[in-house]
Amino acid sequence: MHIRPGTKDDAEQIAELHTRSWLTAYAEIMPASYLNASLLDERKAMWSARLAAETGDAGHGRCAFVAVEGGAVVGFAYLGVEGDGRVLLDNLHVQPERKQAGIGRRLVCHAFGWAAERHPGRTVYLEVLRDNAAAIGFYRRLGGQPTREFVERFPAGFKLPVVEYAWGADLVRLIGGGDRLAS
Ligand SMILES: CC(C)(COP(=O)(O)OP(=O)(O)OC[C@H]1O[C@@H](n2cnc3c(N)ncnc32)[C@H](O)[C@@H]1OP(=O)(O)O)[C@@H](O)C(=O)NCCC(=O)NCCS
Repeated sequence: MHIRPGTKDDAEQIAELHTRSWLTAYAEIMPASYLNASLLDERKAMWSARLAAETGDAGHGRCAFVAVEGGAVVGFAYLGVEGDGRVLLDNLHVQPERKQAGIGRRLVCHAFGWAAERHPGRTVYLEVLRDNAAAIGFYRRLGGQPTREFVERFPAGFKLPVVEYAWGADLVRLIGGGDRLAS
């Protein structure tokens, strides 16, 4: 398995993995009517638009990383700088069958390495559904601290509690150096 910046050619595989991951991880959290509607089409449109200009050099204010195994995308992360100057880890998903094999940790190392190098001194944060206990266990294992809790209203009309987790700049630099040292 190796990790590289995502490009527009990865959009379809990322959209499919993103959809399958939501169907698996959020089955007990989000309404089935929403999950079983047009999730894949929405994701395909979203990732085509997001990656349209990506050439694989991770040079913009936003960046995707993909974990690739035998030519297939088995995980991805997407992050970028927000208006308040912090870096938002907006998406992180590992293929359901490949969870707990270290792929998520390596994606976070790459993402934090990118943040520390391109946007030094910034906090990295993310928003996770409060009922997503597995992801919260993973973020705590990686040293994330809960910093805020709020209720999010989704465009489809339902509301869910969300927790923000954050990593200060020193920890981002430390974790971001990890994968380079290991590989
Ligand atoms: C959350 C997710 C990205 C973690 O990726 P992963 O590849 O399964 O995790 P890793 O194997 O890299 O685990 C890294 C460490 O976290 C720990 N960890 C992983 N899952 C955990 C869990 N459910 N509870 C507690 N710790 C966990 C691992 O034991 C490991 O610790 P170790 O290094 O001491 O052995 C992945 O499970 C996933 O895609 N989940 C579904 C989508 C999702 O919820 N994404 C987050 C949206 S906010």
